[in-house]
Amino acid sequence: MLQSKQAGVLGVAYNVPENIMTNQDLEKIVDTSDEWITERTGIKERRIAGPGQATSDMSLAAGREALERAGIKASDLDLVIVCTLSPDTLFPSTACIVQDRIGAVNAGAFDLSAGCSGFVYGLSVACQMVNSGTHKKILVIGAETLSRILNWKDRNTCVIFADGAGAAVVGEVPAGYGYINSVLGADGAGGNFIIMPAGGTRMPATAETVAGNLHSIHMDGSEVFKFASRIVPKVAFDVLKDTGVAVGDIDIVIPHQANVRIIKSAAKRLGLPVEKFYVNIERYGNTSAASVAIALAEAWENGLIRKENNVLLIGFGAGLTWAGCVLKWSI
Ligand code: ACO
Repeated sequence: MLQSKQAGVLGVAYNVPENIMTNQDLEKIVDTSDEWITERTGIKERRIAGPGQATSDMSLAAGREALERAGIKASDLDLVIVCTLSPDTLFPSTACIVQDRIGAVNAGAFDLSAGCSGFVYGLSVACQMVNSGTHKKILVIGAETLSRILNWKDRNTCVIFADGAGAAVVGEVPAGYGYINSVLGADGAGGNFIIMPAGGTRMPATAETVAGNLHSIHMDGSEVFKFASRIVPKVAFDVLKDTGVAVGDIDIVIPHQANVRIIKSAAKRLGLPVEKFYVNIERYGNTSAASVAIALAEAWENGLIRKENNVLLIGFGAGLTWAGCVLKWSI
């Protein structure tokens, strides 16, 4: 008989490539300007993986540090989840590569694909597995190397996306702390708004797909923008419903870092001061599934998340997908 537990986050960390690409650097590559990128997105610079650096490398570094901070040995993990849409290889999963390299000899491992909502999906799944008693210690990683699947001639996408990884260790926390609730949503009808068309079984790789740049991110930015502006406040209201936590009780919101205008509009619609939203998009751009994980770890490192705080995580992106998770912080 499994005993139900109270799950929460035991440690967080992040890892980003050293190489910084500024808006001025992009001005030399595509027809864009620092002014346009800053005004339309809020991004000033982003991190781009070095030669040979892949998703599992950043995952490993973030995962190791999160374990150290949680005081957990890799051999104590019983599951590794890597949330990504830019895995090292289509298979084996990046989670299996991390499981091996980190030494999680007693853990299962799988990748989770939910676009930019990935880390919030992964954290929700992990918390509920620990809650149910089936697993005790889970490493959840959000990681991307989007620079490898960008068309560097497409100014609609190459100025936005970037690389990095964030990690959280999920385990049992004292009663009254940890996971409170989550919502996971999808609308597959909007799948074509953000898609990598080739490289799967529908359109396998050929010389034509490579020449046509079909192995890169294609995005209808304004459709995704409309969806995101509508969904972020809805996720917040839905995830807090019947929890006893009101919007005004939230101490910090960690939103997906897609566009500073989406964050400002969500703050307004929720009636929350924008200062309650953690924003680091100006330094890291949109790192998809890594974005909420990096922001969470950085906000914690900067002392902006403290024990007792009500923390609200919100993701949205390719799929289309969305996810919210609310926790009472315990570390
Ligand atoms: N530099 C200069 N001009 C540009 C650039 C650029 N980098 N990119 C586009 N433009 C131009 C367009 O060509 C267009 O010109 P036109 O009017 O002559 O045709 C004009 O700027 C306006 O383009 P829009 O696409 O309407 O610009 P918008 O204000 O919508 O901003 C943006 C674009 C930043 C992409 C915005 O739509 C956005 O943030 N969308 C949401 C993206 C998102 O949230 N993604 C998350 C999911 S990602 C995932 O899951 C992997």
